[in-house]
Amino acid sequence: MRASEAPAAGGHRPVLLEAVCDLIVPALEGAEGAVVVDGTVGLGGHAEALLRAAPACRLIGIDRDPTALQAAGGRLAAFGSRVRLVHANAADWRTVVEEVGWGRPRALLLDLGVSSPQLDRPERGFAFRQDGPLDMRMDPTAGPTAADLLMRLDARQLERVLREYGEERHARRIARHLAEVERRAPIRTTRALAEAVVAALPPAVRGRGRDHPARRTFQALRIAVNDELASLERALEEGVDMLTPGGRIAVIAFHSLEDRIVKRALRAGQAAGRLAVLTPRPLTASAGERRDNPRARSAKLRAAERLGAGPARLTAAGRE
Ligand SMILES: C[S@@+](CC[C@H](N)C(=O)[O-])C[C@H]1O[C@@H](n2cnc3c(N)ncnc32)[C@H](O)[C@@H]1O
Repeated sequence: MRASEAPAAGGHRPVLLEAVCDLIVPALEGAEGAVVVDGTVGLGGHAEALLRAAPACRLIGIDRDPTALQAAGGRLAAFGSRVRLVHANAADWRTVVEEVGWGRPRALLLDLGVSSPQLDRPERGFAFRQDGPLDMRMDPTAGPTAADLLMRLDARQLERVLREYGEERHARRIARHLAEVERRAPIRTTRALAEAVVAALPPAVRGRGRDHPARRTFQALRIAVNDELASLERALEEGVDMLTPGGRIAVIAFHSLEDRIVKRALRAGQAAGRLAVLTPRPLTASAGERRDNPRARSAKLRAAERLGAGPARLTAAGRE
């Protein structure tokens, strides 16, 4: 079956599905039991397509979100013992691979960011257009929520978060206003935060542009709450290290901060003679996919192939 025929879960087609399969499947072919690790398995859409396209492979699916793992478990049940699902941060995928004990992976995938169910459920606290508790944790079993973070950060720290993670032009103005509001009564809901951001902006700026005025603030807090950029850096470092020679890594990024980290890591790997970059320019979605799936509009896919033997610091259980 071609990847393009893979069914969509809940009406959501995985982003850049065909390109992901074209890049990853060649690394899995011809090796019985070859291991692919999907570090952001989500609803299991990419995972399902890979399991179908490479019928001899095995897949380890990782997600920080236990509800995503439940959904993936249902979708991938038919593949039986070819699939292991693990609740973890992709930053720790080498430990997961060691614990599963299937050997060094021949392929790695990261489809970053939040999933549609996370965004669509107001109770998860990611959505600025809906009201819910100000949570934003991908893993609701660990760590502080966005509301906790707002309580902990002073105006200067918050300004830095908004500037660095949201690339927000009005970071100072918004941070000062949020700190002021927070002093009077803690901001506990997504609606209260979105309204406070709008109120912080000069009236002339509020309605301008296609974006909701709170979009960048929400992105910044989400990245901070989930420590997304540090997790990505660690996942890339560990991923390149544990890939088997000839193995491939593919990463889909959804904003410039993520994409910059991916681009730099792959180029650094190439400069060090450990990787060959397969995508001199990032692959993006076709006009049709962009039209059908708004999430695909900002997606950038980069991939590389592992060269040479290099150090594989897996412990005995995980070594080939
Ligand atoms: C865009 S969705 C993945 C969708 C999936 N590729 C599919 O086809 O259904 C991103 C998922 O990655 C998870 N995620 C994001 N960053 C993660 C990380 N560092 N470690 C583990 N899971 C992560 C999120 O919880 C979410 O479920």
